[in-house]
Amino acid sequence: MSSNPIGIFDSGLGGLTVWREVRRQLPAEDVIYFADSLNCPYGHKSADEIVRLAKNIVDDMLAAGCKLMVVACNTATAAAIDELRKSYPIPFVGMEPAIKQAALNTHTGRVGVLATKGTFDGRLYKETSRKYVRNIDVMVQVGDGLVELVEANEYESPQAGQLLQTYIAPMLEHGVDQIVLGCTHYPFFKPQIERMVGREVAVIDPAPAVARRVSDVLIDAQIQNAANHHGTDVFLSSGSVCAMESLLKSITGRTFSRGTMRLGAVEYESLS
Ligand code: DGL
Repeated sequence: MSSNPIGIFDSGLGGLTVWREVRRQLPAEDVIYFADSLNCPYGHKSADEIVRLAKNIVDDMLAAGCKLMVVACNTATAAAIDELRKSYPIPFVGMEPAIKQAALNTHTGRVGVLATKGTFDGRLYKETSRKYVRNIDVMVQVGDGLVELVEANEYESPQAGQLLQTYIAPMLEHGVDQIVLGCTHYPFFKPQIERMVGREVAVIDPAPAVARRVSDVLIDAQIQNAANHHGTDVFLSSGSVCAMESLLKSITGRTFSRGTMRLGAVEYESLS
């Protein structure tokens, strides 16, 4: 048993879609969420650069006592999770594109995957697709511009609708019946995408599976918090917390109080 917090980080605000599931499934756990909004997006950065950024974040999260880290970013998982697991003595849970689920559920034999360039370039994506998508036609699409719309809290804007249309329409023409959201920012668009594609096409967000994995790892390592504890949340950003505040308000209905928290040598703006 451990009352230490779980750390969750992303290149920015997308990982809040993972935080939401962790909070729902693990109400007794304390969580520290870190948005690296200053350096967002990660999608076109080199793997070396992402490893460096991820290690800085994890150093600070470890200093804050985190007992497990969730890399709530497909791009950072692809670039850095092997190195993080080698370098630190705590468990890491990363994002995996939900291609397996899509491959099992497809009736048309055609699935679409929307992710960043960094995710498609990584070894993890190539290995996962080699393993699960024999005889299945996978249409990949880089979602350039979508991360920025979430960071600016403009994910429901007409501009977002137009951009999504350019990415999703070719998938529909191709006959896909499963669309995998391979970037943690994209589930913010899920309601819009679902309206575009209709009931015949499943839109898959891997966050619930990732939260289940976090739960399993906590149980295996016997580091869950006491079941009667009421979990708390601290949200930190390397950029401004304004956009985070409004996104949190729209997904939780709650207003969080502002403060600061010192991690390592840096004082970050925080919400809790
Ligand atoms: N949320 C990140 C991911 O899942 C976004 C990548 C980016 O910052 O470009 O890939």
